[in-house]
Amino acid sequence: MNRTTILVWDAPTRVFHWVLALSFTGAFLTAESERLRDVHVVLGYTALAMIAFRVIWGLVGSRYARFRSFAVAPRAVLAYLKSLLGPRPQHSVGHNPAGSIVIYAILLLGVLTAVSGYANYNDLGGKWLEELHEGFANAMLAVVFVHVGGVIVASLLHRENLARAMVTGYKSGTPAEGIRSARWVVAAVLIAGIAALWAGVVPVTEQASVVKAVPTQRAQQRHDG
Ligand code: HEM
Repeated sequence: MNRTTILVWDAPTRVFHWVLALSFTGAFLTAESERLRDVHVVLGYTALAMIAFRVIWGLVGSRYARFRSFAVAPRAVLAYLKSLLGPRPQHSVGHNPAGSIVIYAILLLGVLTAVSGYANYNDLGGKWLEELHEGFANAMLAVVFVHVGGVIVASLLHRENLARAMVTGYKSGTPAEGIRSARWVVAAVLIAGIAALWAGVVPVTEQASVVKAVPTQRAQQRHDG
């Protein structure tokens, strides 16, 4: 069958991806700043909300967004990695088997980082909790490097720009393999939810709004005492 350009990633998956990537990067960069503590906290909540959405979308989303289309399968990973050494690297329309494992690791570490950050922010532990939170964040950064490296290698081997596909939704495949709808309505609801979180409608920090960027009472107390 002729290969053509087909829609593979629905819009909610793409919005999820780039919002998660930006939230994680932003949270990492603001981690050490007392002044930007609220921003750091809201970025952490944003990442957690994205992952919560992704878990639901993995159950009810479109074909390649569903977990069952990228199950963890060690044998498939080995077969895929072996094929990369040969003349005909195995091509996946959705996530390849090796990428899938990295994706699950990112989702798990994302939850662990955000939950430990929440507990830490609410003084539910001591120094050990702060270090645990930092440990999870560093582990996540390492896995993200593996992820981006894997995307670059796979893009070169398959001669397909995978990063662009995560923006446009389109990859190469046969017409029967494509999804029919980008599900923009769901993506719009997701974007509205993120906007609400950032506008302070959802009171996630003591200040409830990052937009105001006023130091929180806690930050003030820490500063005073
Ligand atoms: C410039 C940086 C990045 C690029 C170019 C990129 C690119 C991609 C691409 C191309 C895919 C699809 C892989 C495939 O074809 O199987 C993907 C998936 C994914 N990436 Fe990234 N990524 C970046 C950064 C990040 C970051 C920082 C995170 C997390 C903090 C992240 C988390 C994920 C996740 C969870 C998926 C699975 C998407 C899904 O099915 O929902 N990525 N990324």
